Amino acid sequence: MKKKIGVIRGDCSSPEIVAQTLRVLDRIAEKHGHEFEYTKILMGGEAIDEMGEPLPQSQLELCLQQDSVLLGAIGGPKWEGLPGPMRPEKGLLALRAGMGLYSNNRPAKIWPQLAAASPLKKEIVDKGIDFIIVRELIGGAYFGRHELYENEGELCALDTMPYSEHEIERIGRIGFETAMKRRKKLCMVDKHNVLETSRLWVKVFDRLKKEYPEVEYSTMFVDNCAMQICKDPAQFDVIVTENLFGDILSDEASEITGSIGMIPSSSLGSTKNGLYEPIHGSAPDIAGKNIVNPIACILSAAMMLRFSFDMPAEADEIEQAVNAVLDQGLRTADMMSEGMKRVGTKEMTDAILAQI
Ligand code: IPM
Ligand code: MG
Repeated sequence: MKKKIGVIRGDCSSPEIVAQTLRVLDRIAEKHGHEFEYTKILMGGEAIDEMGEPLPQSQLELCLQQDSVLLGAIGGPKWEGLPGPMRPEKGLLALRAGMGLYSNNRPAKIWPQLAAASPLKKEIVDKGIDFIIVRELIGGAYFGRHELYENEGELCALDTMPYSEHEIERIGRIGFETAMKRRKKLCMVDKHNVLETSRLWVKVFDRLKKEYPEVEYSTMFVDNCAMQICKDPAQFDVIVTENLFGDILSDEASEITGSIGMIPSSSLGSTKNGLYEPIHGSAPDIAGKNIVNPIACILSAAMMLRFSFDMPAEADEIEQAVNAVLDQGLRTADMMSEGMKRVGTKEMTDAILAQI
């Protein structure tokens, strides 16, 4: 199969993991007779430096012409002082919105080899951690009205959190469909004791749940959910939630699995053209040192093969290769524990390639 992949190298330590991920994709292409055509696309800090804005229109258009886009991570101290609309993060948000990617899928699954790296007690981890956070990605506070204004001589700021029924319904469907393919449990996380948007989420979900009688549906307040994720993560199968809550909970969920450096993500809309990125940041402090863990990015590429390119066998092969190198005791710095062998970014990828 021939596929066009947009490649956004990202900032700080991100180009290192993207380069390694392309080696893995090349190996898969070679082995299975596929042709992956890469197009370099600028977004984030690199786009600001080279083109003067975080997501130039030409770069968004390039993304829309691809079969999917692979991204590392963007941002870093160099661009910290810039005003809101000029920040690298703004490029990422504009890309998600411009590609219509309303559904962000973030798996929180413990690799048994990394169980010791989880900050949770062994008896909690032993019950199993295997859930998915389905995060609404192009609505809510991220895309509401933002304002900084003056009132009676002092500065005030305002962020609004709008949601409409159709935005809630389409992500709700993804939540229920995801649950149907798994253990058939869906938890909608909100704050309906306080927020009007949450009360609308409840209303829409109460309607939707009738279409999925097999799914065991519940709701949970976001503060309680944050607590339950570290107290009893085994209770969760699929969590569906709005944008900002999903952002926060998915970082927490990744940490309990041992390392945020292991968690990939997919972002999809109404077509198969998706955006695939690790959920971690650009790790500026370790840039250029061959230390950063490439696995979240490599697993993001595997998700791309599975969900956008209908290549489940190829995706399985990558995931099994990762499993094998963890079995061999190889660890990057972020997931190092006693008795394991510490390796760098490139060596970790070499070991993964050796398994494919
Ligand atoms: C994420 C990140 C982004 C977000 C930032 C970089 C804007 O934290 O993908 O979770 O908040 O969505
Ligand atoms: Mg985040």
